[in-house]
Amino acid sequence: MTSGAQASATGRQASLEGTVQPGATVQPEATVQPGATVLPRLLSASGRPADLAEHLRVHGRLLYRGGARMLIHSIESAGLTGRGGAAFPTHRKLTAVADQLGVPVVVGNGAEGEPASDKDKTLLWSSPHLVLDGLQLAAEAVGARRVHLYLHREPALVRHLESALAGRAAAGLDRLQVGLVTAPARFLAGEESALASRVGGGAALPRFTPPRVFEHGVDGAPTLVQNVETLAQLGLISRYGPAWFRAVGTEAEPGSMLTTIRLADGSGGVAEAAIGTPISQLLKLDRYPARAVLVGGYHGAWLSPEQAGRLTLSNADLRPLGAAAGAGVLAALPVDRCGLVESARVVRYLALESAGQCGPCLNGLPRIAASLNQLAQRRSTPADRDDVQRWSALVERRGACHHPDGTVRFLRSALAVFTDEVTLHEAGRCSARSPEPFLPIPAGSPAREEDWS
Ligand SMILES: Cc1cc2nc3c(=O)[nH]c(=O)nc-3n(C[C@H](O)[C@H](O)[C@H](O)COP(=O)(O)O)c2cc1C
Ligand code: SF4
Repeated sequence: MTSGAQASATGRQASLEGTVQPGATVQPEATVQPGATVLPRLLSASGRPADLAEHLRVHGRLLYRGGARMLIHSIESAGLTGRGGAAFPTHRKLTAVADQLGVPVVVGNGAEGEPASDKDKTLLWSSPHLVLDGLQLAAEAVGARRVHLYLHREPALVRHLESALAGRAAAGLDRLQVGLVTAPARFLAGEESALASRVGGGAALPRFTPPRVFEHGVDGAPTLVQNVETLAQLGLISRYGPAWFRAVGTEAEPGSMLTTIRLADGSGGVAEAAIGTPISQLLKLDRYPARAVLVGGYHGAWLSPEQAGRLTLSNADLRPLGAAAGAGVLAALPVDRCGLVESARVVRYLALESAGQCGPCLNGLPRIAASLNQLAQRRSTPADRDDVQRWSALVERRGACHHPDGTVRFLRSALAVFTDEVTLHEAGRCSARSPEPFLPIPAGSPAREEDWS
């Protein structure tokens, strides 16, 4: 096994180019390909978007399996898990959808509502054809006859995908026509029940479950929702096989994942890292010391620099601390910023982003955000810290979706990691030297504190 994050050339040449006719069925590659341990695998090695000619030169044509379920065993052997945040085993979801009675719908989830993440946008720009290959293969695996790609409402990105789809149609690559559906720029738009509603022509609002989306999703049909990175990984595993996929990563969590890196010096970008790579290496913590590290985005968790320094990007390391790799966000808070102020901005954003359909979000999150804001602004009363804790316990596991739970996870980690800062703020002081905001909050969401009381 190897680890590391790289953006260099794959060194892998297409061995399959020109050997398969459009829509043809071939046997899967079973052998490890040259360059199996070389990253990046998912992003274009040239740094430029891989157009269809480049995609075919590097990876060859899309290889259908010839029937439903036939790819699922390879996906199980590879140990692929979803890259949309929950790391759910992909083969189990494929099987669950294939087992349903109705004809399934497949949707690639490129909504990326998480403001701190850029990896899905970057992937769709860089390697649209790997994602689109994965979409067709997932549809074949579950026996779907309808496929959609759900993506940012960003005109240039939509045109990029339209052009990719037109090229594929001309080359006869796709068996099913892909419908593009745009997602509103909201945190919750990528939650799978919100996605199912939007793709079915409704609002991108989460709904109460059950039934779950895999049973009753778009227009009532069983629906497979996979993150676009998961689909791109599927496109690779179908060509190069499980052993190739497992050549990087750990035994328990194989493969690579895209990570959005925000270094403490303010720079950053999207990198592809082997699962199990040290977080300190990815965030260059030796060169750019951090006050704290945010792992997994705004539904993720803060770690102290000491914790981050000894952990790797893996759920095996992170879950015991209540954190998770999630969708691969890693942000190093600069030493001159206040973690409490940053956390209050994020919690306020999350409270505003709730769909306001259930009690925890209507009543709980605004109160939590208000009390946390009082703490951050050094205007708290002795009751504020207790209120935050009490309301957090009241909203947990009581929403229709996991938004309150994710918000509470983030908040609790902030109170634990920045506990000294909380005490300082309660005494009317703050250790930060810079008031400059660090974590991104989308335009349109209020950037500064407001009176919530
Ligand atoms: C509040 C919330 C927001 C989510 N946003 C996204 C998103 O933007 N993109 C995404 O792929 N998954 C998102 N998810 C996860 C999806 O519901 C779904 O589990 C995922 O797309 C499945 O794909 P995967 O198994 O390939 O990870 C979100 C989940 C929650 C609870
Ligand atoms: S828990 Fe909150 S975000 Fe989720 S559906 Fe209910 S109101 Fe909307």
